[in-house]
Amino acid sequence: MRDVHARLAAWMTRLGMSVRVDAAGNLRGVHPAAPSTVRRLLIGSHLDTVARAGAFDGVLGVVLGIALVQLLGRRQHPFSIEVVGFSDEEGVRFGVPFIGSRALAGTIDRDLLERRDTSGRSVAEAIRDYGLDPDAISEARVADAIGYLELHIEQGPVLERLNAALGIVTAIAGQTRAQVTFTGMAGHAGTTPMRGRRDALAGAAEWIGAVERDAQGVTGLVATIAHVEVEPGAGNVIARRCRATIDIRHADDGVRADAARRMAATAKEIASRRGLDIEWEPRLDQGTVAMDPALTAMLERAVVRSGTPLHRVASGAGHDAMIMAARMPAAMLFLRSPGGISHHPDESVMEEDVAAALAAGLNFLDELAGTLS
Ligand code: GLV
Ligand code: MN
Ligand code: MN
Repeated sequence: MRDVHARLAAWMTRLGMSVRVDAAGNLRGVHPAAPSTVRRLLIGSHLDTVARAGAFDGVLGVVLGIALVQLLGRRQHPFSIEVVGFSDEEGVRFGVPFIGSRALAGTIDRDLLERRDTSGRSVAEAIRDYGLDPDAISEARVADAIGYLELHIEQGPVLERLNAALGIVTAIAGQTRAQVTFTGMAGHAGTTPMRGRRDALAGAAEWIGAVERDAQGVTGLVATIAHVEVEPGAGNVIARRCRATIDIRHADDGVRADAARRMAATAKEIASRRGLDIEWEPRLDQGTVAMDPALTAMLERAVVRSGTPLHRVASGAGHDAMIMAARMPAAMLFLRSPGGISHHPDESVMEEDVAAALAAGLNFLDELAGTLS
């Protein structure tokens, strides 16, 4: 993160932007740099990524924001632009996503700052470790912005199937995340009979299969258990504890909430039948968020004016835009993802699509200027 901050900050500074890192570790560059009373458009995405990730999820949108400032050159607009590189969108380390954008939206609370990673370090301690002050986090908040624009790879196959370079995001699907812990009893793998074992991992495994079958039976529902930790984790000891993450998504909040209830009930039933204890700790309950109609209409006009065919898509992936949308109008532009591949090293983007996104982005800034002047 320090390396990417140094590289992007150097680029922003060369463009005459004023650059800082806020207390949540978000990189923020403002153009023009001179203190000004003019209102601000935010353009951003995230700089963190998942384990063994691709090179574009998140960071592309930050780079494109800076590139737009560069392309603007000396052209004057009746607003300033703040490019934001969010610090933690994926939630990999603390199990809670959107920490960076929640700081801008002003929705970070004590609970979140106290949340711990697997080594026991809290969010507040991690912020201090980075040389920042978690007590100053409220200063990261943005009070009065015109809106928020995010450019991002689609991370799915829809645009490629349409043979389309760009997509206008209509809404971002809601997510439930939780940590689920099965606790049983450790024992000797060689001497403990199969009957009467309280094997936490076997219970979790039964539940994982049930969750997959459940989601397969509901149109549009996705449920993913992708991280399990087993204790004591030795080949000849029955598992005493199994901690698993679950991530449940659907465009309809009601369907998602029902699914979460069912999957929790299934975990409870399996645990009780197997003599295990079960704990379901909520990590996120984020509703589906629609993008702002007026800002999105400007983005649509910008895409059409740039000569790229207009396509509207819903986002199954989460984005900082869904957090920013609670505070200000938000709009999103997707770039096609070759093969629909993301959260994978083969993730990519096509140069001509990047050019199309920049052309549309410049037109968007003109559209916005037209509405403000
Ligand atoms: C972000 O990549 C997400 O989990 O949707
Ligand atoms: Mn991601
Ligand atoms: Mn992303």
